[in-house]
Amino acid sequence: MDEAPDIPFRGIVEQSLAGMYVIQDEVFQYVNATFAAMLGYTPEEMDGMHLRQAVMPEMQAETVANFHRRVSGEVPSIRYTTIGRHRNGEPVHLEVHGSSVLYRGRPAVVGVGVNITEQLSQQEALRQSRERLRELAAYINTLREEQRSRIARELHDVVGGMLTSMKLDIQRISRRTQDPELKAIVGDLLHLAQESIQTVRTISEDLRPGALDHLGLGAALQAMLRQFSERTEVVSHLHRGGFDAQLPQAQATAAYRICQEALTNIARHADATHVVVRLTNGEGWLTVEIEDNGRGLVSLTPTGKSIGLVSMAERAREFGGNLASRPGATGGTCLILRMPLEDLW
Ligand SMILES: Nc1ncnc2c1ncn2[C@@H]1O[C@H](COP(=O)(O)OP(=O)(O)OP(=O)(O)O)[C@@H](O)[C@H]1O
Ligand SMILES: [Mg+2]
Repeated sequence: MDEAPDIPFRGIVEQSLAGMYVIQDEVFQYVNATFAAMLGYTPEEMDGMHLRQAVMPEMQAETVANFHRRVSGEVPSIRYTTIGRHRNGEPVHLEVHGSSVLYRGRPAVVGVGVNITEQLSQQEALRQSRERLRELAAYINTLREEQRSRIARELHDVVGGMLTSMKLDIQRISRRTQDPELKAIVGDLLHLAQESIQTVRTISEDLRPGALDHLGLGAALQAMLRQFSERTEVVSHLHRGGFDAQLPQAQATAAYRICQEALTNIARHADATHVVVRLTNGEGWLTVEIEDNGRGLVSLTPTGKSIGLVSMAERAREFGGNLASRPGATGGTCLILRMPLEDLW
């Protein structure tokens, strides 16, 4: 074997961007400049410092215990995070990896430490920002549903009411005239009024399905599927064998909107000929499966600007539930929505 090359280890250790240390008898025997600087000292100042002094009080027992587990040979090497104590008293989050070695003929620990304070605070900032986004999504959903309900009501009650009055007046005119030309015009007007009433009803129903408020989720989904099949010529079935759950209105709305978006996706992307929706409840969970026989979903992870699946998953989450997918039984996609039925909100 070749003779070991004469590598200048001391220079490497002293210039290392990672902190390095040697501890023996619970006391620092050596630290490099990087490690000392993490805690606000010079290497000379840390020379001879007790291990306890370098960590926050709540971490002292665990850190000393970890030191002894290594020098005793119980575990030769441990990687863990601890909270160092800066000279100014501030906590410094450290990830350390130490191993037992022989130093001056007796057991010691040699280790490497990295300051992860910044990383942890970024993780925390990211978590908080996701949390705020989630709250925002929930708020927007609530606001949107309230607006839809209000517009649906106004349309139905006010505009629908006005059109009905118009229709009655037109009928009165129709009864009082014998003039054939006038009768023809009034007939057209009557037809137009009737169509307008129907249009207002359809728009209002689209905005806020009355069945959802009066007949519950099962009936509303049944109506949705019937309309979907009429519009797209995709054959659909709703199975709601044992479904008997009474859902709070907000939760029923969320499940309904998720199914609505799933059907929109099927019409737009799946190229399917059949859709089956299975509605079940049991063991405290509401489950809705929406299965198509189309080309299949590559992944639930969104790409580009798509927000459909993201907002479906967010709505489910808002109620403590989740959205998953698996390949359909005959190809295609099966989306699975699960929501707890307990009153968690
Ligand atoms: N049932 C399905 N079958 C096949 N592919 C699907 C199905 N549902 C979704 N996809 C694919 O997943 C992608 C993401 O869907 P998503 O609803 O998030 O976005 P989108 O429909 O493209 O846009 P939007 O934001 O308007 O909903 C779609 O672009 C489509 O490629
Ligand atoms: Mg979509």
